[in-house]
Amino acid sequence: MRTKIIAGNWKMNKTLEEAKELATEVKNHVTKEVTGNVKIVLCVPFPFLLVTKDHVLQTSISIGAQNCSEHDSGAYTGEVSAAMLASMTIPYVILGHSERRQYFGEGGKLLAKKVDKALAHSLIPIFCCGEPLEIREKGTHEALVRAQVEESLFHLSEEAVKKVVVAYEPVWAIGTGKTATSQQAQDMHAVIRKQLSAKYGEAIAQAIPILYGGSVKPDNAKEIFSCPDVDGGLVGGASLKARDFVDIIKGA
Ligand code: PGA
Repeated sequence: MRTKIIAGNWKMNKTLEEAKELATEVKNHVTKEVTGNVKIVLCVPFPFLLVTKDHVLQTSISIGAQNCSEHDSGAYTGEVSAAMLASMTIPYVILGHSERRQYFGEGGKLLAKKVDKALAHSLIPIFCCGEPLEIREKGTHEALVRAQVEESLFHLSEEAVKKVVVAYEPVWAIGTGKTATSQQAQDMHAVIRKQLSAKYGEAIAQAIPILYGGSVKPDNAKEIFSCPDVDGGLVGGASLKARDFVDIIKGA
C-alpha cells in the first residue's frame, strides 16, 4: 500500500501575513481532524518557505518549493538552487508544472536537469506531466504524457527514480473547475504506471506515488483518490482555503 500524499500548490498567492495565517489554520485543522496515514505537503512561494516551515513544526505537514534551478550556483539572477532549498531542509520541490512549461518555456530536457539537481540534494521532486486540451481532443494524450515522463525521468537509475513523485495534471483541468472524471484519471495513472513498470520493473512502478491534479475539490476528492492508481493529489485553488484543503485531505 502506497501512502497517500496531498500536496497544496499555493502558486503565486498570499502575502507574508496571509501565508502565516493559512499555514496556522491548516495546521490547527490537521492536528484536530486528520488521523491516518496521509503525507501533507504545502508547496509555498520561495519567500515563505522558512516561515511556513516554522509554523508547521512537529506536525505531519511538510513544506515544498514550486521550482528550482537546473544550475548549481552562480550568475543566474532571480533563480533558486536545489542546494539552497536543501540547506533550509525543505524536503519537496514541484518540477515541470504546466504553468512553468507554458509561461516559462520549460521543456523535458531542462526538466531532466532540474530533476537531477533536486535528487542530488536529496529533495523529492514532484514531477508534473499532463496534456493540454487540444491534445486530449485529438486523442494523443497518452503518447504525449508518456513522452513527458520518458524525456525527464528515464535517464534516472532505479535507485533515483524510486525517490520521485509523479503528478498527472491534465492542463484542461487546472484552475478551470473542470475535473477529469475518476475514470479518466485512473486510466492515465495506469498508463504511467505501466510505462514505469516496463522501464523499471513492477516493484518500482508499484512504489512510485502518482498524484492527480486539476480542480480537486472537497466534493470530488474522495472519488478520485479511491482509484487504485491514484495516490493522492496536487491541489491548487482549493489549497488556498484551509477548510477546503483539509476536507480534501480527509477525502484521502
Ligand atoms: P487547481 O490547480 O487545483 O487550481 O486546478 C492544480 C495545480 O495547478 O497543481
